[in-house]
Amino acid sequence: MAFGKRSGSPDTSAPAAPRPAAPVAQPRPQVSKPKVPDAVQVKGAPKLQATAPKKSEPKPEPVRKVNQQSEQYYATKTTVFNALIDTIDLSQLAQLDAESAREEIRDIVVEIISIKNVLMSISEQEQLLDDICNDVLGYGPLEPLLARDDIADIMVNGADTTYIEVNGKIERTNIRFRDNAQLMNICQRIVSQVGRRVDESSPICDARLLDGSRVNVIAPPLAIDGPTLTIRKFKKDKLQLQDLVNFGSISEAGAEVLRIIGHSRCNVLISGGTGSGKTTLLNCLTAFIEPGERVITCEDSAELQLQQPHVVRLETRPPNIEGSGEITMRELVKNCLRMRPERIIVGEVRGPEAFDLLQAMNTGHDGSMGTLHANSPREALSRVESMITMGGFSLPAKTIREMIVGSIDIVVQASRLRDGSRRIMCITEVMGMEGDTIVLQDVLKFEMDGEDENGKIIGTHRGTGVGRPRFWERASYYNLERELAAALDALGS
Ligand SMILES: Nc1ncnc2c1ncn2[C@@H]1O[C@H](COP(=O)(O)OP(=O)(O)O)[C@@H](O)[C@H]1O
Ligand SMILES: [Mg+2]
Repeated sequence: MAFGKRSGSPDTSAPAAPRPAAPVAQPRPQVSKPKVPDAVQVKGAPKLQATAPKKSEPKPEPVRKVNQQSEQYYATKTTVFNALIDTIDLSQLAQLDAESAREEIRDIVVEIISIKNVLMSISEQEQLLDDICNDVLGYGPLEPLLARDDIADIMVNGADTTYIEVNGKIERTNIRFRDNAQLMNICQRIVSQVGRRVDESSPICDARLLDGSRVNVIAPPLAIDGPTLTIRKFKKDKLQLQDLVNFGSISEAGAEVLRIIGHSRCNVLISGGTGSGKTTLLNCLTAFIEPGERVITCEDSAELQLQQPHVVRLETRPPNIEGSGEITMRELVKNCLRMRPERIIVGEVRGPEAFDLLQAMNTGHDGSMGTLHANSPREALSRVESMITMGGFSLPAKTIREMIVGSIDIVVQASRLRDGSRRIMCITEVMGMEGDTIVLQDVLKFEMDGEDENGKIIGTHRGTGVGRPRFWERASYYNLERELAAALDALGS
């Protein structure tokens, strides 16, 4: 079967020029112990915290009442916590299941409260107990945030400042850590679960929580105001295309066009900024893959949730503490090609793997998809071009462009607008070359009309009047001609 474009594509089998020698991984200086003792195991650790709470500076701004607590509460908590640590052997506590451990802690905390003559209401005591259990057994003050499903991101900027993103808006919370040492302990606990370490000698670390949430830690001295932790929470129930329609991210007719694009196995790039909804959209598009197809996904950290039975999921691997053992996206994508895939899905294209993905798209793996960071379809394609150039393939620019034109059918642009909403800004076709330039054609565009009194952006998804898009031929091959005609009509213009 020939779909015009692809059959006339330039010869891309040119052997890849060797990549420039990768910089030799710097062996990290050997450090005997993580700098920050882990309160759970290290008996002496609380001594470090003995001086807390150290600050009583006035808070700069009124903070939303996520978890309204006073300085006094934190002071009490520190006292009780330190007394607890002195009393029990935390490493033994770790052997118990959560319930019994909690009971154990409860008994001791109640005792401490009465010995120290702390005045507290029952509900405050319960709160204190919760907090302390979270500190000892889990991710401390982060626990209540991790438990909430409506939070997309958690951003901790040092012990005193935590922001969250809810409904596309960033807001400050009242969550606080005792001090930077406690925050660092928690970061350490998180990254040690994936066999990594974060401390002054290796202050940058990516990890993942057990629930799939992605974590980045950057510690002092690089982060000037204290350990900085960013968590992109894993959404158990990924949004469906219909949800996107309900949110107004795309019109009903636009969603239908996307459905046809998915079904007719167009090669798609999803472009957008960070947090613009690229991965979500990619996940939506994968819903249209036939159950019989063999799909291979390559991601930096597995986020996609394909519902099909025949899916192989691959994940890159960062270098280990000694700086070796890294498996790059390019290696994964190359390997993929030897695994007889029918479609290849690349979570995020950011380097020389762009070349291999294009090759795959061009050599019979129709319906492959990937996301990439760019602000417009045109920018997306020029980024692909520069990724290939920078990857050390010595191909003339025109050849690379021809290769792009020969392999990518559609670019979908996603954006996070200033009101926090996510929109599909355009569905754009890659038409061909005119001289040295790639010709693009929008099929659908989001047009902003203004904003309402609450600052919400108002706008419409409009068709651009294209009656016969380039992927018409493919759609008709998959018997979707009539649906496509109807959807294009319904787009309006
Ligand atoms: N159309 C949308 N409407 C509302 N929220 C969305 C939409 N698309 C994505 N989100 C949410 O935005 C966050 C970031 O989405 P994600 O797809 O991971 O972005 P990206 O891959 O571009 O960084 C997620 O919490 C996701 O659930
Ligand atoms: Mg993403």
